[in-house]
Amino acid sequence: MRFFLLILFAAVAFAAQESDETYERGKTLYFQNGCNNCHGSRAEGTGNYPSLANRAQGFLAYKLQTFRKGVADTPMQEMMIGFAAALSDEDIEAITTFLHDFHDAQTERYDPAFQQWGDGGS
Ligand code: HEC
Repeated sequence: MRFFLLILFAAVAFAAQESDETYERGKTLYFQNGCNNCHGSRAEGTGNYPSLANRAQGFLAYKLQTFRKGVADTPMQEMMIGFAAALSDEDIEAITTFLHDFHDAQTERYDPAFQQWGDGGS
């Protein structure tokens, strides 16, 4: 039993570390690919460019996958096709983990109840 608990604890610790790594990798990719130039350095959105922080991961991944295929719903979104083209599945997984879990000193001040869920109405 004690051995089992040890394994369980190790597995939980490993999973937590792994998702931290994915988050950090996503953060690096977000800045490396210049996503921050339009979507903001805190993914808060700027001007016409939508906020991406704390949005549903499945939705963000779906949008990036369709942009990568060259499909956009609006002329505005066509701007994204070039930026998504070079992203691998792992890149999309990492970037959307970073965006969905996005936290910094500023946003942590807010009540988590204000997190945005859903598809953001787009
Ligand atoms: C040159 C500006 C620009 C850059 C750079 C850019 N985007 Fe975008 N992004 C846009 C525009 C414009 C839209 C579409 C806005 C709309 O629907 O009106 C968009 C939409 C999106 C959406 C869909 C959001 C929604 O609500 O439909 C995601 C996800 C996204 N961008 C992620 C990224 C990621 C990740 C990167 C970096 C790889 C990136 N963007 C780089 C301009 C940009």
